[in-house]
Amino acid sequence: MKVVILENPEAVAAYGTEMFKSQLKSKPDSVLGLATGSTPLALYQQLISANKNREISFKEVSTFNLDEYLGLAGDHPQSYRHFMNDNLFRHIDINIDNTHVPDGAAEDPLSAGNNYEQLIKAKGGIDIQLLGIGRNGHVGFNEPSSCLASRTRVKTLTQATIDDNARFFSADEYQPHLSITMGIGTIMESKHVILLATGASKAEAIKATVEGPLSASCPASALQMHLSTTLIIDDAAATQL
Ligand code: GLP
Repeated sequence: MKVVILENPEAVAAYGTEMFKSQLKSKPDSVLGLATGSTPLALYQQLISANKNREISFKEVSTFNLDEYLGLAGDHPQSYRHFMNDNLFRHIDINIDNTHVPDGAAEDPLSAGNNYEQLIKAKGGIDIQLLGIGRNGHVGFNEPSSCLASRTRVKTLTQATIDDNARFFSADEYQPHLSITMGIGTIMESKHVILLATGASKAEAIKATVEGPLSASCPASALQMHLSTTLIIDDAAATQL
């Protein structure tokens, strides 16, 4: 695990952007694993600019997002499909049919999870997976206690995560307690992993991720076993290392 500590969130986004750009330049038909949350937003902005400048192209790219709220269809404003369309896909030259987000409206979420795994395999696997991290060490929606070999499946959200994400929902709006998420096993099969973390609220989770122990209590600690993982964090997130 390589840990890159930078001065501030802007530098974190810029470093991550450069890694994505070199991936796309060396393999224009890359398969990207993408994440939601506020942390990757600055990186998405920079990818959009690089695409507008014609520095990189997404024409041949496929994407797979980590997770989705179970019970929200893709056109729901709080769905992660909606988030991705809004914050990245509709601003770049990607073919929207090549973008994938788990189906939060699936009638049979178990089959939907298996199908998602098959789709990833059929594309040749994920070249580079972007991750944020929850304050409790979750990646995607793999909450503490997630099996470290898990695949795409339904996962119940912890109260801590529900509380953290409540800021995106208005008071009278239904907030799902279930998700469909790639598993830790799925993430571990990505060729490269980039985890971004900024701010003091992530310091404890970063310590547990980097310094261990390897444990389902901090699902991100499984990345200690991954051969090509780069953590890009700012000074505030690094304070407990
Ligand atoms: C959600 C997402 C995660 C994300 C996390 C942290 O729970 N499922 O993929 O990493 O939020 O979000 P933020 O970057 O806003 O702190």
